[in-house]
Amino acid sequence: MPTKIEKDALTGIELKGHEWDGIKELNTPLPRWWLYVFYATIVWAAGYMVFYPAVPWLGGHSVGVLGYTARDDLADKLKAQQARRAGGVAKIEAAAPAAILKDQELLKIARRGGEVAFKENCAACHGVGGAGTKGSYPVLADDDWIWGGSVDAIALTIRHGIRSEDPNARASEMPAYGAGLLTPAQIDEVAEFVLSLSGKATSTAAAGKGSITYAEQCAACHGEKGQGNVELGAPKLSDQIWLYGGTKAAIVAQVSKPRQGVMPAFEGRLDETTRKMLAVYVHALGGGQ
Ligand code: HEC
Ligand code: HEC
Repeated sequence: MPTKIEKDALTGIELKGHEWDGIKELNTPLPRWWLYVFYATIVWAAGYMVFYPAVPWLGGHSVGVLGYTARDDLADKLKAQQARRAGGVAKIEAAAPAAILKDQELLKIARRGGEVAFKENCAACHGVGGAGTKGSYPVLADDDWIWGGSVDAIALTIRHGIRSEDPNARASEMPAYGAGLLTPAQIDEVAEFVLSLSGKATSTAAAGKGSITYAEQCAACHGEKGQGNVELGAPKLSDQIWLYGGTKAAIVAQVSKPRQGVMPAFEGRLDETTRKMLAVYVHALGGGQ
């Protein structure tokens, strides 16, 4: 060590006295702000060790004067959550769907719970807010129901699904008329008749011929005037709401080879209370009956 403190000629900063190949080391002081933050963290750490569990030793650790443990904290939070559930969700558990609809407070809780469950379980197919997916999954926010729009009918659809593996699933199969049951000309005519039900036929002559095929083949499920049948899940054909499209091409395609959409059963995936909240939520989307 040099006796006299040398200073760097260029910057005026003290030198440490170390030198390698002519490169000298400066003794640059730490920035003030950095030092103060550093001291503050030391004070903070000391305080933390007094108040909170901190110092480990054999078979345990210091407890801290506040007596805090993360385990107690979690237990408290769980208890608070259970209390909250007991208030709202337990009442929903006990109430019939129809009773929930009549009780503003329960309705609010069920709709909120149902909305969360819908986003997680249903929106992938039915769209956010039940807006549907054009040409594949039905809108749930309108008043057009394939399988019924009462809250109990909706609950049953959710519980067992549609053409799912559940033995109690809603199931009905429109025959594939393109596989030999009807000729392409007959399918064309019956499609014209279906279009005429909503005033969209392009040929009255073809629609007239199609009406005969319709009465023989289709009316049993879809109703004589195309009014639909919720028992059989046969959609109404006389409105402007289409599951698979209302163009002639879409109708010909459906009659030739029906889509037979599948919805999974949610019994076993979601508990009864969640399914109940979902049914209430869907019912309240706008078109509940
Ligand atoms: C894999 C896609 C899929 C998922 C996920 C799904 N659905 Fe469906 N859902 C369908 C299909 C397809 C139909 C129509 C089937 C048919 O009748 O041809 C349908 C029909 C329905 C219907 C009957 C609509 C009517 O007009 O009668 C309701 C109610 C319904 N879904 C509610 C739900 C709810 C609530 C969830 C979430 C718990 C859900 N769906 C999840 C595919 C799905
Ligand atoms: C056994 C009952 C049954 C019979 C018979 C039947 N359908 Fe269907 N139809 C259904 C069901 C169920 C659906 C729902 C969609 C699916 O399963 O593919 C449907 C759907 C449709 C759709 C689509 C509706 C939409 O909203 O997109 C059209 C169009 C249709 N049927 C026309 C016909 C015509 C035309 C005939 C006669 C040639 C016929 N159906 C015979 C049960 C039937």
